[in-house]
Amino acid sequence: MDTIGIGLLGFGTVGRGVYRVLQQNRELITNRLGATVEVRKVLVRDPEKDRGIEVPPDLFTADPAAILTDPAVQIVVEVVGGIEAARRYVVEALTRGKSVVTANKDLLAAHGQELFAAAAATGADLFFEASVAGGIPIIKILKEALAGNRIIEVMGIVNGTTNYILTKMSEEGAAFETVLQEAQAKGYAEADPTSDVAGLDAARKIAILASIAFNSRIKLEDVYVEGITRVTPADIRYARELGYVVKLLGIARETPEGIEVRVHPALVPVAHPLAAVRDVFNAVFVRGDAVGDTMFYGRGAGELPTASAVVGDIIAAARNIRYQMRGTTGCTCFETKRVKPITA
Ligand code: NAP
Ligand code: HSE
Repeated sequence: MDTIGIGLLGFGTVGRGVYRVLQQNRELITNRLGATVEVRKVLVRDPEKDRGIEVPPDLFTADPAAILTDPAVQIVVEVVGGIEAARRYVVEALTRGKSVVTANKDLLAAHGQELFAAAAATGADLFFEASVAGGIPIIKILKEALAGNRIIEVMGIVNGTTNYILTKMSEEGAAFETVLQEAQAKGYAEADPTSDVAGLDAARKIAILASIAFNSRIKLEDVYVEGITRVTPADIRYARELGYVVKLLGIARETPEGIEVRVHPALVPVAHPLAAVRDVFNAVFVRGDAVGDTMFYGRGAGELPTASAVVGDIIAAARNIRYQMRGTTGCTCFETKRVKPITA
């Protein structure tokens, strides 16, 4: 039986989940793939830290070279987060011809073009399903299942932390700061939760979705962004009285004036399917010219739902290695379309 070596960069909420899923579903994954996936090393800042999970201690390293220069590591999984270190690791891995799986929307939104070029240069794969909407396989849906459609609109709740906060504020009258701390404790929030509450995380995600949906590179600067920091309990209460719930929406649509991309709190009628998306759940609505209206729903953050997306990508990358199909799932041929400027 073939063995495919994995190097895991990061063992926080997502890295731990990836390790857990690979262990608990080991036999099933081996049978599906016809090969064994083996985690060879795990990069962390502090290899001595108690991780609260049984892992052979010699698996941990603080030296990225132990992973990036190991010829037996064929797939590098980047779940360290942040931009600069992650960028160096991913570029080096791709340049060395290793396939990369990442959950890092900050990195993709800032340096996607450079990363896809590095992947194309060596024919390596770059997968990023977990970067948008946690466990919902929305990237594959747009890139593959709906690829025959002209996409008219992509809209949805793409940040779990803010949906969790708005749900608790609305249903329990909880205070913003208290619920944010709960979301952090549950592993939903970014290392710096300003990204979540200021709408930047959702903006990066809608930029990624819009780039795929409209086959044109949409940058973070193209997105009009407003977060939930100015939403008050009174706003939420009045909205309810009028038959609405407040949701942070990401919206991308192609208009005659260009592609319009925005993130802001919105009043959603209680009868609308997005109003029922509570807690850490996300939902993405896609309108295509052939398929019509579709909607995809699931947990948008957290250890195992995010690991589900990362492990799916690991299996796809491993399959491409096994059947010599690497480089066939790339994302490099964007057109350049006009972006419609939006002001508040
Ligand atoms: P996290 O809990 O903060 O974990 C980060 C891990 O990376 C830690 O193990 C840390 O080591 C390690 N690390 C960070 N910087 C490092 C460096 N420079 N060198 C070596 N190791 C480093 O983060 P997370 O929540 O798992 O998120 C990881 C990525 O997934 C982010 O890009 C995030 O946006 C994305 N994501 C997260 C979720 C979610 O629900 N959390 C969902 C989707 C996508 P130590 O443990 O030693 O500190
Ligand atoms: N902080 C992000 C969220 C993690 O709450 O949606 C998932 O990308």
